[in-house]
Amino acid sequence: MTERPAFAFFSPEVQQDPYSRYALARAEEPIFFCEDLGMWVVTRHADVAAILRDTDRFSSKVTTTNIKEPPPEVLAVMRKGFPRTGSIVQLDAPEHTAVRRKLNAAFTAERIAALEGTVVALASELVDAFAADGRAELMARFCGPLPVAVIAGVLGVSRADASEFGQWADDAARLFMGGRLPTDEWVRAAESVVAMQHHLAGLITARASAPAADLLTTIIQAATDPDGRLDLVKAVTHATTFVFAGHKTTTDLLGNAVRLLLLHPDRLAALVRDPSLAAAVVEETLRRDCPVPGTTRVARVEVKLGDVTIPQDARVFLALGSANHDERVIADPLRFDPGRADVGEHLGFGRGVHFCLGAALARLQGRVGLAVLTSRLPGLRLAGDPPLKFRQVVMFRGLVSLEVAWDAPE
Ligand code: HEM
Repeated sequence: MTERPAFAFFSPEVQQDPYSRYALARAEEPIFFCEDLGMWVVTRHADVAAILRDTDRFSSKVTTTNIKEPPPEVLAVMRKGFPRTGSIVQLDAPEHTAVRRKLNAAFTAERIAALEGTVVALASELVDAFAADGRAELMARFCGPLPVAVIAGVLGVSRADASEFGQWADDAARLFMGGRLPTDEWVRAAESVVAMQHHLAGLITARASAPAADLLTTIIQAATDPDGRLDLVKAVTHATTFVFAGHKTTTDLLGNAVRLLLLHPDRLAALVRDPSLAAAVVEETLRRDCPVPGTTRVARVEVKLGDVTIPQDARVFLALGSANHDERVIADPLRFDPGRADVGEHLGFGRGVHFCLGAALARLQGRVGLAVLTSRLPGLRLAGDPPLKFRQVVMFRGLVSLEVAWDAPE
């Protein structure tokens, strides 16, 4: 066996460009134990896709997706909140099947298609606020606020009630998803998440006595047992999952897509000429720079994959970002090529029973967001020479900031 590549997941170089490191791993040691993560890392498309479907041998009940156990100060804060168990992402059948069936009701194709007008209006309203400025930091002004407003509307929460969702979701990302935080920042992130949980608990309790045609009501139904008793802990967990899953991911999809377009002016020009190309740009972004570059599983039993043996109870990191660049299924993977024939292979939304519940909603926001932005801001370009840094978080791939300029009216 070749020597294990030292995959320093947290090194700034790998965070900025994981792809060259992944290419080496796919060629030399496609499944390896990463000391840095404390997990087995699976890098080839075929293996990642097979494990996503192999629910007999791999469980989604990963006790924590964070890399390190939180320090006691953080655990003390988290005890003031709601226990975070039973999130749909971390359930196995049969519980998963039952919860998924109920939550699906809020994400039918008709329900999502009916949101198109609202998403167009929200995107236009955001652009109106800065279109005359000629310059903006898009993560803060557009890519973040659009999904927050959309998920608030889907949940059935007023925008005032949702005003802190963005900050809370950022903090949740840092708390749960593999950041390396100094203790004081970690404590602050935990406090923020506990505040979000209590806020959502209040909204759920109010909605329980006044049901409506919204996601909050669907969540309440999913968390109510056959005797009619609402399990508030479960409901808060589901609501937190949606605020979190629905916000950060889509923010990064928009940011990563705009970055790729700005780095490929010919593609941007084509989109400006024909806004219907936005759907293909979204799909290729999900492949080229997927906002969720990995997900985790636990081996229920000892599993032999090729010449590697993954021990029972070991945690496994399925590198979706690497699978999406696997030259065995994707031609010339570094090329940003909206409309490419093989894009359908991408695993940016996962695969199998846990396939992203919000995929249609994310695609809608990506498509509409990009079309509105590029049609409203003529001559969109990078402002100055910003480094376009990606955040230092293993489970999400998104930009720290995105400074752009355009030809504002005189
Ligand atoms: C699951 C990615 C947007 C809700 C997943 C999974 C991925 C993913 C990779 C599978 C996780 C696994 O198998 O372990 C993304 C990306 C998004 C996005 C890249 C945006 C570009 C959304 C939105 C929502 C959402 C907008 C809801 C409003 C969920 C939920 C699950 C999930 C509830 C768990 C499904 C289950 O376990 O059955 N997502 N997601 N996601 N996503 Fe998304």
